[in-house]
Amino acid sequence: MKKIAVLTSGGDSPGMNAAIRAVVRSAVFHDVEVCGVFQGYQGLVDGDFKKLHVRSVAKILGRGGTILKSARCDEFRTVEGRAKAFSKLKDQNIEGLVVIGGNGTFTGAMKLFEEHAFPVIGIPGTIDNDLAGTDNTIGFDTATNTVVEAVDKIRDTADSHNRLFFVEVMGRDNGFIALRAGIATGAIAVMSRETNLSDDDLVQVLAAGQRSKKSSSIVIVAEGCEYGGAYELAKKVKSKTDLYDIRITVLGHLQRGGAPTCADRVLASRLGVEAVEALINGKTNCMIGIVNDELRLTSFVDAIENKVHSLDDEVRIARILSI
Ligand code: F6P
Repeated sequence: MKKIAVLTSGGDSPGMNAAIRAVVRSAVFHDVEVCGVFQGYQGLVDGDFKKLHVRSVAKILGRGGTILKSARCDEFRTVEGRAKAFSKLKDQNIEGLVVIGGNGTFTGAMKLFEEHAFPVIGIPGTIDNDLAGTDNTIGFDTATNTVVEAVDKIRDTADSHNRLFFVEVMGRDNGFIALRAGIATGAIAVMSRETNLSDDDLVQVLAAGQRSKKSSSIVIVAEGCEYGGAYELAKKVKSKTDLYDIRITVLGHLQRGGAPTCADRVLASRLGVEAVEALINGKTNCMIGIVNDELRLTSFVDAIENKVHSLDDEVRIARILSI
């Protein structure tokens, strides 16, 4: 393999730049030329490529976002769009592709491989940690730390006023951020698909907290929980009891920004190097991940469709420690 390309796609996550840097440097180390593709799959369809050198990726290791930009691309969802992207790759003599992103990104990569037999390896980059075949996705650790920092601040004011706060965090399909941050901030309850608490259960938990003299309380709400978010849930609780002075904070996209933590920088660096080596060694149509500190390749289809590792332990711990 003489020339490869790298792109970031879908929602950005802190550590994507560290992964791009690792891909570029490890490719150059192995005498392979690298092109950056701008704006995700849109750049592939449009042929928006630029050669990257070792120094093109200097000083990005600790920067949030992605220097290659990211986009959601409707054209690449079509057979014609992918054929166009394939011909742009061929025109540039590119022989392999590294995609950094989440399940939408991997679905596109899988189709590119199936329709054109184009070699492609994925690196898991999403704050949601919703891929099977890796213990952590790049950005999850940073996002969770960002939430913890924010909730610690909210706790200060909640405590001063004896208030109840509903804090909504990201996680479209799972409660990874919600549960980990809930444990780390001592939330009285975490509302996510995994904890499966009803609004009535929550009212009881809150009442028990009052009886045991809790002066302030934080409820972490995963955006993907069945109540549709913190505002809706707070409305339900208000309709059932007027015991609490309730405030709501939706943390939103600040969870996607910021400098990656050490854990995310190291994870991105390891996965970036391994992705390039896997591609050079003829691996394709799969994601590189780390499970129990061991590198592992998982087919795209399994990474997207298999069950992500269980949060049962977190659910139990959160419940026990919130009494
Ligand atoms: O990156 C994944 C994610 O953070 C989800 O948790 C959230 O629902 C979504 O992105 C929002 O992304 P956007 O605003 O880019 O559509």
